Amino acid sequence: LKDLLDAGVEGRGVLVRSDLNVPLDGETITDPGRILASAPTIKALAEAGAKVVVTAHLGRPKGEPDPKFSLAPVAAKLGEVLGRNVQLAGDVVGQDALARSEGLTDGDILLLENIRFDPRETSKDEAQRQALARELVELVGDDGAFVSDGFGVVHRAQASVYDVAKLLPHYAGGLVAAEVEVLAKLTTDTERPYAVVLGGSKVSDKLAVIEALAPKVDTLVIGGGMCFTFLAAQGISVGTSLLEESMIDTCKGLLDRYADVLHIPQDVIVADSFSADAESKTVPVSEIPDGWMGLDIGPESVQRFASLLTSARTVFWNGPMGVFEFEKFAAGTKGVAEAIVEATGKGAFSVVGGGDSAAAVRQLGLPEDGFSHISTGGGASLEYLEGKELPGIAVLEG
Ligand code: 3PG
Repeated sequence: LKDLLDAGVEGRGVLVRSDLNVPLDGETITDPGRILASAPTIKALAEAGAKVVVTAHLGRPKGEPDPKFSLAPVAAKLGEVLGRNVQLAGDVVGQDALARSEGLTDGDILLLENIRFDPRETSKDEAQRQALARELVELVGDDGAFVSDGFGVVHRAQASVYDVAKLLPHYAGGLVAAEVEVLAKLTTDTERPYAVVLGGSKVSDKLAVIEALAPKVDTLVIGGGMCFTFLAAQGISVGTSLLEESMIDTCKGLLDRYADVLHIPQDVIVADSFSADAESKTVPVSEIPDGWMGLDIGPESVQRFASLLTSARTVFWNGPMGVFEFEKFAAGTKGVAEAIVEATGKGAFSVVGGGDSAAAVRQLGLPEDGFSHISTGGGASLEYLEGKELPGIAVLEG
């Protein structure tokens, strides 16, 4: 970004891909983290006099306009954070976007409507994606530039992330550069002990990262909904807890191969229904009653995990330990997070990856400066740690 700013952007159209995919409750943004993290790059460009066109997605609409996924609340919040007017185009690359982009004056900011309202954004057909990319280029003109700043989406080979970078002079935004620098520290010369905490609901999303990290780390703690498939792999009956039956054998193989590294809960908090006011009790994992579901890890597990984490020198955490959105099932996530804060206080390098864990940090009132870095990327940070090539980064290097 510095190179672009040094070259001067006054009067130049600059297309910025940000990740503004924030959690919403109706039209209320429940965690503005990604907007706050994206603001500095947009601000720097606007202050330097660029005509800034921002493109971003929200959720996973089905390739057509859908008011539920409108970026309207995001445009309002972005304007508030920047202290500047942010126009929202009524479409992605249609008449309104074109007219508004033509009317931009130096320092103006235009946010395009949800890029995933256009089916070409996520198309597997490269020609389709390139056609959309060309229409995005039209909005900033032939002498425009592209700034890739949506770290949370760099693992997607999509039109606004990947294809458009091939058509314009391209630059890594401040957020993307900072995220990559931090994550690189987790892959080279890591200080030991190195502990990883994985949670969240789907074990299938995390298998690749477990395979990649288990041989490299000292401790890999598993909690959240995904731990029940590991428990089932040990022959434990998990009641109505989340379970991915097709993954049981793979989990069993991992437990056998990495017995010294993998740690799964020994007790859990079970509930009679999935709700904030469900009846609940703590049980050893071997005594999960039929018809009950595990919604958090239990206090003994928290204690054991915490003792592993407080002595670590490097920690990466992705995914909550339980349904922290319900107070009754937040203790596991909070306990593990507090242990990471303690480790950080003792000099450990700690990274929180993923929208859900970052939201948990803020919603549970944990100090954001209690972690060395809170990443805006969930899937992106996992794929980085898996050692996969991230198309949105690779294209900038090409
Ligand atoms: C995320 O929420 O991880 C990013 O915004 C990417 O979203 P996606 O998984 O829908 O591509």
